[in-house]
Amino acid sequence: MGVLASSTKDLFRTSQREESVRRKTAGSLVRYNRAREVLAGGVSSGLRRSMRPHPLYFTGGEGPRVRDVDGNTYLDYGLAWGPLILGHCPPEVTKQVGEQLQRGLTYGAQHDLEFEVAEALTSIIPCADLVCFANSGTEIVQVALRLARAVTGRPKYLKFEGHYHGWDDSVLVSYHPTAEQISASGDNPIPVGRGQRRAQEAIVAQWNDREQVERIFAGRSGEIAAVICEPLLCNTFCIPAEPGFLEFLRAITERHGCLLIFDEVITGFRVDLKGAQGVYGVVPDLATYAKAVGAGTALSVLAGRRQYMERIANGEVVHAGTLNGNPISLAAAAAALEVLSRNDGAVYGEMRRLSGKLRSGIEAALRAKGLPVVTSGEGPVFHVSFMEEPARNYRDTLRADQSAYTQLAIALLDEGVLVLQDGRWYVSAVHGDAAIDETLSALDRALS
Ligand SMILES: Cc1ncc(COP(=O)(O)O)c(C=O)c1O
Repeated sequence: MGVLASSTKDLFRTSQREESVRRKTAGSLVRYNRAREVLAGGVSSGLRRSMRPHPLYFTGGEGPRVRDVDGNTYLDYGLAWGPLILGHCPPEVTKQVGEQLQRGLTYGAQHDLEFEVAEALTSIIPCADLVCFANSGTEIVQVALRLARAVTGRPKYLKFEGHYHGWDDSVLVSYHPTAEQISASGDNPIPVGRGQRRAQEAIVAQWNDREQVERIFAGRSGEIAAVICEPLLCNTFCIPAEPGFLEFLRAITERHGCLLIFDEVITGFRVDLKGAQGVYGVVPDLATYAKAVGAGTALSVLAGRRQYMERIANGEVVHAGTLNGNPISLAAAAAALEVLSRNDGAVYGEMRRLSGKLRSGIEAALRAKGLPVVTSGEGPVFHVSFMEEPARNYRDTLRADQSAYTQLAIALLDEGVLVLQDGRWYVSAVHGDAAIDETLSALDRALS
């Protein structure tokens, strides 16, 4: 049961809005139906199928705006699920990638961009003495966990419920279990889909629950190679670590001789030039990056302390991949890092200001309608939900009225604002004041 009273439920005029979006985006629906005949589910990543009223098809984007096949343009706060930190088609990135395209798509061998980007990354990321590259967040998390097992000689790792670390069987557990699954399985790892191998190496705890983590270590310390977490829980309502919790994870992993891994696939180069490590001042042993670091290309990075990364350097731990370190992704990263690092990362201050203005504008508009709203996050990634109290872990989020939020997202789409329907908002470096003002006006219309 959602938190919105039934009298306010139709605030978003849902059926009218859906009908209006359906009409405006008819070309997308035609394409989606055609795609479904030949492409499993009609989409290339399962989550995209859930978009209502139907998945949209795009023809291009520029800056903070994206255009669909029916000619509608939207102010984009989905940003391709995060990567487009510089917006659509940032000229510095497209220029450098365009030039590289003329010189070669990939070599399967060495080239200068590899060490140039690695030099930039190691000079920025606090935990980075050495880095290595892959193509997706899923892959690079596997490299990190393998390395932790090699370093410690231990088989298991501890993760938190609600945290997402990619779609490999070993980590795709206890992501967003239903209340029924939780009551049946408790804190045992709960696989997300069918066909997954049992993730025997996963131990699951609740985010922000020190006592539980302590209990787990007291009983199983000798089995645990690593603790992995999203240092800001972006994949679940952007729930922050409570004060001292990241420091606690740092201390307990040190005490028990295992590694602390920050999965910075979202927070990296998004919440700050130095990512979550920069914002929270806690330095893990290893950190994983994807999304923003490639500014929209397929790039992921493992960064870590020399004493651990040496195991990859000497070949003891295998890290391989045909397209690893390909020059297209690294050209994009080189250009993006150059832009993001200018004036000591001054762009992050501006993103923070604009995101703050947007976030407080959204809160004010929704509260003015008497809606219970909670926002949470860090600068240019935040979450909006309909609930009474902020969540401190995934289970708390089950109290939110998710369907009401989806209705708001559809009303916003009808008003030319594209947001992820799970409540997350991403702001890019090119969403200026005018875009934010336009968005808040669109929200007023969506609520009027
Ligand atoms: C925190 C986190 N880790 C890992 C991944 C997996 O990355 P990819 O989708 O590139 O495989 C994601 C993807 O959203 C993520 O948010």
